[in-house]
Amino acid sequence: MSLELRGVTKTFGSLVANDNINLKVDDGEIHAILGENGAGKSTLMNIVYGLVQPDSGEFLVDGNPVTIHQPADALAVGIGMVHQHFMLIPVFSVLENIILGHEQSTKIGSLESSAAREKILKLASEFGFHIDPDAIVENLSVGVQQRVEILKALMYDAKILILDEPTAVLTPQETDEFIEIMKKLRASGTAIIFISHKLREVKAVADKITVIRQGKVVAIADPKSTQEELASLMVGRPVNLTEKKTIHHDNAVVVKVSELNIADEVGRPLVSNINFEIHKGEILAIAGVQGNGQTELANAMVNLHKNVHGSILLDGQEIVGLSVNKSLHSGIAYVPESRELDGLIGKFSIAENLILDTHHEQPFAKGIFMSNKAVEEEAQKKVVEFDIRTQSIDAPVSSLSGGNKQKVVLARELSRPVRLVVACQPTRGLDVGAIEFVHKRILEEREAGRAVLLFSTELDEVMTLADRIAVMYKGEILSIVDASATREQIGLLMAGVKS
Ligand SMILES: Nc1ncnc2c1ncn2[C@@H]1O[C@H](COP(=O)(O)OP(=O)(O)OP(=O)(O)O)[C@@H](O)[C@H]1O
Ligand SMILES: [Mg+2]
Repeated sequence: MSLELRGVTKTFGSLVANDNINLKVDDGEIHAILGENGAGKSTLMNIVYGLVQPDSGEFLVDGNPVTIHQPADALAVGIGMVHQHFMLIPVFSVLENIILGHEQSTKIGSLESSAAREKILKLASEFGFHIDPDAIVENLSVGVQQRVEILKALMYDAKILILDEPTAVLTPQETDEFIEIMKKLRASGTAIIFISHKLREVKAVADKITVIRQGKVVAIADPKSTQEELASLMVGRPVNLTEKKTIHHDNAVVVKVSELNIADEVGRPLVSNINFEIHKGEILAIAGVQGNGQTELANAMVNLHKNVHGSILLDGQEIVGLSVNKSLHSGIAYVPESRELDGLIGKFSIAENLILDTHHEQPFAKGIFMSNKAVEEEAQKKVVEFDIRTQSIDAPVSSLSGGNKQKVVLARELSRPVRLVVACQPTRGLDVGAIEFVHKRILEEREAGRAVLLFSTELDEVMTLADRIAVMYKGEILSIVDASATREQIGLLMAGVKS
């Protein structure tokens, strides 16, 4: 099945999010869409799926005009979508989620549970998914949840599948498996529209690449182009993907973590026997496959976790047991892993979010003075400095694109006078231009003598930034190696192999 978009335009006030876009996706093709944060990719996909109404534009399926006003219309003509943020109900089973799919289509009501189960199992074996229809969604890993989302779309016979940043939350191994799934789907005749900021992946699977900048199609690129070529097409300037750093020399210890142990509510250990130091002007990266205790350790650094035993000294002062607010005020910047949950308040304006001094609910209320001129000036400055793409600092943060939300968190946290920066997945969802900027910014923090604790599952990022690398495995630090370690050595440690 082919899909063609003609002249799709969408404005939000004076902002032109999509400007007369033409796009043709052929039968069984993987068509990647590349573009900066805020370029208009998600908006365009939401239009195709009927979630957003365009100001103008036409859709043709197999050459015939179709009207799409709601997701049911899209599903009816064979278009399915997996969103940037999953829409599964955590306490329901896989089967229930698939039957009860919230995007009500005419077909959904008629799906019987036994027939659905059979179809799930058939599709799962066809595409090599290991999925138990009766498993409860919240117990599944992110990678498996994503397969459930894909199954949900395939259940309604989607012939064109829209995948909006499907790999942003996957581990490297899950990503490889996911790429295989895309290839199998293509082989079965399904066309895929694939959005990703990871150029390596795009090059690995795409048959065709459309590049969007500021709402306009600026190029149709060849997947054989180099990453540098693709990057500069996206952002309109050359991008340096491997920032070089100087060797650091300061021996003063800023952070000393000793015998740190973290347990869950019933006392089972989550993180055990953590010991490390971070020096002035040093970046210590915590690498590892997601789910090996990194989140708990990061949270413990600002006392977001309750059951913590052991010691964290910041310039010699104990911070374990302080409130979250006090921890932050003792001189810690904190970029949380999930900006959706901890970093931002969607309905507050960009200016307000830029001055929330903590991500925690209670204390920030006192910090907000909307009429305060200084706050506005500060916000204007940050928007320029961090290239936050918005029309107004008074717009709600929820109206920003995914990557621009992340820039708001970074702009706030990397602007406070601190001694330690704890950054969790700081470049998740960012375009290559923004990644370059954030890496430069983190290195500036280091130059300024701050200690940086970087949590990242991106090996490239770890290798680019870190002075030393600690690899976590099953809640423990397996080893701390210096920056000259090879990808292979770190990869083995990530898999739990200690030489
Ligand atoms: N509901 C809305 N109201 C106002 N502006 C919006 C709305 N939705 C999107 N925008 C704006 O439209 C532009 C395009 O956003 P979109 O989410 O499509 O970007 P994107 O290409 O998906 O970026 P990212 O890579 O960061 O996810 C952005 O400037 C965004 O702020
Ligand atoms: Mg998007």
